[in-house]
Amino acid sequence: MIRINENYTKLKASYLFSDIAKRVNAYVTANPNQPVIRLGIGDVTEPLPAACVEALHAGADEMAKRASFKGYGPEQGYAFLREAIAQNEYASRGCKIDADEIFVSDGAKCDCGNIQEIFATDVRLAIPDPVYPVYVDTNVMAGRTGPSADGRYQGVTYLESTPANGYVPSVPSVATDLIYLCFPNNPTGAVATKAQLSEWVAYAKKNKAVILFDSAYEAFIRDPNIPHSIYEIEGARDVAIEFRSFSKTAGFTGTRCAYTVIPKSVVAYDAAGNAHPLHALWNRRHTTKFNGVAYPIQKAAAAIYTDAGKQQTKALIDFYLGNAKLIRAAMTKLGFTCMGGDNAPYIWVNTGRDSWEFFDLLLNKAQVVCTPGAGFGKCGEGHVRISAFNSRENVETALNRIAAALK
Ligand SMILES: Cc1ncc(COP(=O)(O)O)c(C=O)c1O
Repeated sequence: MIRINENYTKLKASYLFSDIAKRVNAYVTANPNQPVIRLGIGDVTEPLPAACVEALHAGADEMAKRASFKGYGPEQGYAFLREAIAQNEYASRGCKIDADEIFVSDGAKCDCGNIQEIFATDVRLAIPDPVYPVYVDTNVMAGRTGPSADGRYQGVTYLESTPANGYVPSVPSVATDLIYLCFPNNPTGAVATKAQLSEWVAYAKKNKAVILFDSAYEAFIRDPNIPHSIYEIEGARDVAIEFRSFSKTAGFTGTRCAYTVIPKSVVAYDAAGNAHPLHALWNRRHTTKFNGVAYPIQKAAAAIYTDAGKQQTKALIDFYLGNAKLIRAAMTKLGFTCMGGDNAPYIWVNTGRDSWEFFDLLLNKAQVVCTPGAGFGKCGEGHVRISAFNSRENVETALNRIAAALK
């Protein structure tokens, strides 16, 4: 008799964004003449930068000619892209990351979901709350947690991000082995200072743990004192893996390209206590289960490192940050305490009331969709996430409607 992976039955029945979609669809069906503005899901709205589009076309043209056609490429990514990343993202910030420590992939979602495969099933997890749901759910699927009770899975050390700690959790008092951190944070928009990240690196070293650092939103950092990479912290090369994505940096959510950095010095241990480099394990996993990102897409990604590409991606992010500034200012003016929006595309609004109730209020009275904080974890209750990914016109209209609805 074929049997299922029963860990899947521990997952909460429906995914946050399907719950939201159901409520929005019900509203739209009942009110077909009331146009809804979506500031909920974190998807970009602006087209790809021109430099990327040109490179994408050129890459497609190469595929059309026998002399320049390419079949399977290296699973880890073409050298031209890995070298451009190493130079522009790391060497330029004084981080020693070699091109062959970078694994190009089709998404940070898949990478942060799949990485747990290379760790033992009984490692102790530390996961932020609120959180991008992928970190928790993939560990539930793999059987690393007990059942869920009262919004929490047994066996996980939750790193609470609350108004009291400025939404940046400190290291826990207990030892853990696999630590997920995400800065700039989704959903809170909070960023971590060098001092805060140094505490985490020291904790990981002390506990022989590994930090999984998701910096999918690093391109939104504008404060020069905030680190973009965990490798800006001394010692991180020995204890941290970093996830990056072109999705939010250059509008690649529908184009799909990302990368994971695993320095060769990061190790984890077997039952006998022998150290094993994680680079080799991930390389084995990646080459066995992944066959590389399409050549024209990698060409398009590399184009963000040309002079024109750098200028265009900066302008793109500045545009979203302009939206974020308006949202944060408007919500603050309405009397809410907000986090984020300055070095991140998300504004985390402390609503002081039930987050689904506030979601319904904005949907029904302002026809604006936000994301209820409770969907990101227990500590998300009392908050909503508003995303800056939309046109300026829609953001301005949404903010006027919210102000009128909350009067
Ligand atoms: C924190 C975080 N990591 C990763 C991702 C996924 O990135 P990608 O589009 O590269 O899969 C997202 C997307 O919303 C995200 O918010």
